[in-house]
Amino acid sequence: MINKFNSPILPNKENILGILGGGQLGKMIAMAASKGGYKTHLYCPKGDNPAETVVNKVTHGDWDDFDKLVEFSNSVVCATSEFENIPSKSLELLSNKTKVIPNSVVFRCAQIRSKEKEMAEKSGFRTPKWYLIKNTDDLIMASKSMGFKGILKTNSLGYDGKGQIRINENSNLFEIWEKLGSVECVLEEILEFKREISIMYFKSTDESDGFFPISENFHENGILKKTIAPAILDLNAEKELKTKTKQLSQNLGLYGIIAVELFELFDGNIIFNEIAPRPHNSFHWTLNGCDNSQFDILVRTICGLPVKDVKSNGKWEMFNLIGNFEDTVDHLYDDQDYITFLYGKKETKIGRKMGHINHRIT
Ligand SMILES: Nc1ncnc2c1ncn2[C@@H]1O[C@H](COP(=O)(O)OP(=O)(O)O)[C@@H](O)[C@H]1O
Ligand SMILES: [Mg+2]
Repeated sequence: MINKFNSPILPNKENILGILGGGQLGKMIAMAASKGGYKTHLYCPKGDNPAETVVNKVTHGDWDDFDKLVEFSNSVVCATSEFENIPSKSLELLSNKTKVIPNSVVFRCAQIRSKEKEMAEKSGFRTPKWYLIKNTDDLIMASKSMGFKGILKTNSLGYDGKGQIRINENSNLFEIWEKLGSVECVLEEILEFKREISIMYFKSTDESDGFFPISENFHENGILKKTIAPAILDLNAEKELKTKTKQLSQNLGLYGIIAVELFELFDGNIIFNEIAPRPHNSFHWTLNGCDNSQFDILVRTICGLPVKDVKSNGKWEMFNLIGNFEDTVDHLYDDQDYITFLYGKKETKIGRKMGHINHRIT
């Protein structure tokens, strides 16, 4: 767990902020840091890294290149990450050399679905019925007890719906097990939900904290397609959700930002899905919909600047630009009210997030 910090990190020549991961989230963290006068140093493996164009310095290295990680951590006053799957050994090494926010306990929890669910349950959340699956015997037993209906998800390294397969009574469980790489998994009950929502909590190293308004999310094939925010929730349900989210964050010793993905059932119950201790796609609308975006707030929290609840300036929608998006989206460049963000990725791939559009509804 990190120490409390007495004085804020202010922008000056010595105070360079470290960013782990060179994707679009890293890019938008760096842009927010730059807006606040901070210099940034990016660490990421070589590749198609959108963040490289907007940082002050880049170190290319693999996540297990300890020499390069040490060199990087010696050059920054603190580091944050857009990438939650940094190996724990590397995170520990970084944490010994510089302040890493969020801390490694948070990352470990977010990396392993079974740990994440246990921590959520401990914090008062309900989760879908789930089983830890270590081999095909476990899978057969658990599937039986769920009536051969569920989602098998790899216990780690899944994102954007990758690393998960739905099962039914006709599924060949052995084939599915192999298709997911014969690795530890969780089998989850498939929930019939009214809608998907997400909440974002943040806490500065000066101990102040707050929430963004809640987002309502629409997925297609496991990948976020659209968000509408703020989502209106029953007042008591919102209060309870915030209490549990704070409890979870407290249990993890969180500083920085954390998104919690949830399912709202038809009876009003809210069920935990997963956490992301970093900027989250479902809060990209805050780039235009709030005075401080999730990236601005992340920078404030890691630098120990005071924070408070963030309000929205109206109702917003956000569309993701996925894969070959040009022919599938209206108002790409023809209407300035549809604010287009392109991440500048060199290669377009099916299911790859290439950019997003923010649009004010009211
Ligand atoms: N137990 C479930 N019941 C119904 N839908 C689910 C369940 N788990 C996941 N999904 C759907 O798949 C999407 C992606 O799953 P998630 O567990 O969030 O994985 P990822 O790490 O890829 O985001 C969810 O946002 C939801 O739309
Ligand atoms: Mg998810």
